[in-house]
Amino acid sequence: MEQLTKLSTFAQDTMKGLTANPKYLLPKYFYDDNGSRIFQDIMQMPEYYLTDCEFEIFTQYKSEMKDLFVNGNAPFELVELGSGDGLKTKILLDHFVEHQVDFQYVAVDISRQANENLDKKLQVELPELKTKFKTGDYFKMMNELNHDSDHNKVFLFLGSNIGNFREHECHQFLRQLSGLIQPNDKLLIGFDLKKPKDIILQAYDDPHGHTRAFNMNHLVRINKELDANFDIESFRHVAHYNEDSGETKSFLISTKVQSVYIGALEKNIHFQKDEAIYMELSQKFDLETIHQLAQKYGFKVEKNFTDGRNYFVDSLWSKR
Ligand code: AVI
Repeated sequence: MEQLTKLSTFAQDTMKGLTANPKYLLPKYFYDDNGSRIFQDIMQMPEYYLTDCEFEIFTQYKSEMKDLFVNGNAPFELVELGSGDGLKTKILLDHFVEHQVDFQYVAVDISRQANENLDKKLQVELPELKTKFKTGDYFKMMNELNHDSDHNKVFLFLGSNIGNFREHECHQFLRQLSGLIQPNDKLLIGFDLKKPKDIILQAYDDPHGHTRAFNMNHLVRINKELDANFDIESFRHVAHYNEDSGETKSFLISTKVQSVYIGALEKNIHFQKDEAIYMELSQKFDLETIHQLAQKYGFKVEKNFTDGRNYFVDSLWSKR
């Protein structure tokens, strides 16, 4: 235990996950600079319908969103938690700037590289936009955000990032947001909706191998940062979807009996043939559950923006 406290959080979490039964790893560690790049490949593939849905929603409803976000003439901050490449949000940013909305865009992301790229891109493409960039875990940054300015805020939590939280984390996140959000603030959350299995599995086990590479990159990261010797080729990637619960889960499965040595932990991890590491949950929702979540944490649903196929919803919440 004493040794554990000297280790980085990444090392500690890796130790906990790989010595647990069943084994797991935490999805927040997908997003080193390489993982963030692979995730952009995922978002660009046609099978990953979530991106197209949100593009469609923003394109269709940007004007209505502007009217709902603007509260009188008061300036506000548009705070995006997990901004990534900001591509979808750019539709709103363009529209708001074009209509001379008085706002500042605050991008919060765990990847410094993603923030730097977005900063450069916005400086070129939207030089008149006021921006602020924050790098770090948004769970940790949330309180800081409120102390930074007393302007009204519209928080964006897009792309069904909420689906990657395990159930208790989802509740913890909404409780924390509920404590932070003031009566004039708003919250726009993207939820991926339940849908037929084949559509989901194409998106989460794609024929191009991007999702596989995304998952494998986590092992590569452990190899690099924790001095381990995972043999990537002896793991395969599998996705499961449970149509009743909406749980979409990704696993890496050991194709043989093997041991992996993790130098930073001074530990051998043993795998049986076909033993799984649970990598990620991508929860799918229904409108009833979304409504209940809002209620439970003191919000009301002002409006649900959905795409034409009803695959995805961006749900606008405010305090009750
Ligand atoms: C970031 N997040 C919403 C993605 C999702 O759909 O769960 C991460 C992802 N994992 C595999 N493909 C995409």
